[in-house]
Amino acid sequence: MMDPKLQKLNASGYFYTTSITEAMELAGLLPGKIKCHRLSPQENEGARSHTLSKEFGLGEFPFHSDGVNQPDPPRYIQLNFKGPDASFVHFSLIDMTVFCEEEFWEEAIFSVRSGSKRFMLPCIFKKTSGKFFKYNPMIMTPLNNKAKEMVIEMRNFQNSIEQMICFQPQENSHIFIDNYRMLHSRGKVGKESLDRRWVERTWFYDN
Ligand SMILES: [Fe+2]
Repeated sequence: MMDPKLQKLNASGYFYTTSITEAMELAGLLPGKIKCHRLSPQENEGARSHTLSKEFGLGEFPFHSDGVNQPDPPRYIQLNFKGPDASFVHFSLIDMTVFCEEEFWEEAIFSVRSGSKRFMLPCIFKKTSGKFFKYNPMIMTPLNNKAKEMVIEMRNFQNSIEQMICFQPQENSHIFIDNYRMLHSRGKVGKESLDRRWVERTWFYDN
């Protein structure tokens, strides 16, 4: 029988827990190679170029998938919210499955920036395990009319309150996200929380 936490992650596209034991058990069930990063809020000036912090600083981040410019983006993301001000910043998710299921959007083509390079890419991508979705408005620009139409549709969808899943993450809590289906966004960070809130992020790859 499948682990109930993995079942919930597969069914809902996310799994949130305040239990370190549950988080470690679920992390142990996720596939292959991993990469870990420590993320902390930064003001625009000090941030690395081509990052969300450089563009948005302590403001709200746009909804996005992680690693869209990688040939094989991370399958799942684990975020461990740390620091006494962890719960002062809200965190939101949107399930994009409806776009993924619609064949029409397979022809929406975007230009993707990766460092100094650019290449063409659809939002909808196929692997042997299924059909998936990825999008990051920071580095993906619509190329054809379907992509332009898709951006408008996605914006309407994201602006609809019913579609959004919002969290006030507790200190030391964990969220696991299906990065091939869900977009995520961080809310505004107050200046006073700069050193009192950070995130330990793990990317889990399919292979
Ligand atoms: Fe992200």
